[in-house]
Parts: sequence; structure tokens; C-alpha cells
Amino acid sequence: MRCSFLVAGLVATFMAGSACAQAELDTEAAEKLLKRNDCFKCHAIDKDKRAPAYKKVAARLRARSYGVDYVIKHVTTGPTVRLEDGTEEQHRVIDTTDRAELENLARWLLALK
Ligand code: HEC
Repeated sequence: MRCSFLVAGLVATFMAGSACAQAELDTEAAEKLLKRNDCFKCHAIDKDKRAPAYKKVAARLRARSYGVDYVIKHVTTGPTVRLEDGTEEQHRVIDTTDRAELENLARWLLALK
């Protein structure tokens, strides 16, 4: 009895530990990915350039309850967007299809405040 209790405790601790590791954001990796893809050419983190600041984008997406899947779809499918100067063009498609990398980027972006 006491033994199975201990095992259950260990399993719970292990699971909590791995859930934590998964929830950890890699800010450096997210910013590196944005730099490599020239995303900062149009977006800055907290000021508008040719496109709205990522903080503004994040607030808008959160307000609409858009999550990780929405962000990933946006950056991998190249929808038509309107730039601040009123012209329209196809949005930049990111150079990775790695789900973990994309998810990290999307979670980082959505968490900006
Ligand atoms: C040529 C300029 C340009 C580049 C480069 C660019 N974006 Fe954008 N992005 C825009 C514009 C314009 C919008 C749309 C703004 C709007 O509709 O209000 C936008 C919107 C977004 C949105 C929000 C989508 C939504 O529906 O609100 C995300 C997320 C985003 N960009 C991420 C990225 C990432 C990641 C990169 C790099 C891979 C990137 N952008 C590169 C211009 C650009």
C-alpha cells in the first residue's frame, strides 16, 4: 500500500516536471526565427512599422480568442494582407514547417504584453 502510494507520487512529480518543460517558452529561438525570416522588416515588437507591432497583433488575437493554430496558419499559408500604407501583398511564408518551432513562435507571440 505504502509502496504504490510512493510510486503514484513519483509518477505525478515526473508528469508535472515534463508538463513544465513543455510550457517553457524559448524566446531566443522565437526571435532568431523572426530575424532569419526578415519578419522585423515589417513588424517590430512594440512599435508599428509597415505592419502592426507584435504586441498589438497579440492583443488583437487574444481578444478574438485566436490561438496557436491561427498564428501558425497565418505564417505558413501566405494570406493577402494590407500594409500600413494601404497596399496589399501576400504575407511572408515562414521557412520552417517544424511544428515545435512554429508552436514556440506562436506561443511566444501570443504571450506578448
Ligand atoms: C512585407 C511586410 C511583412 C513581413 C515581412 C511580415 N509580415 Fe506579418 N503582417 C504584415 C501585415 C501587413 C499584416 C496584417 C496586418 C493587419 O491585417 O492588420 C501582418 C500580420 C501578421 C500577423 C497577424 C495576423 C492576423 O490575422 O492578425 C502575424 C502573426 C504575423 N504577421 C507574423 C509574421 C511573421 C512571423 C513574419 C515573418 C515570417 C511576418 N509576419 C513577416 C506584414 C508583414
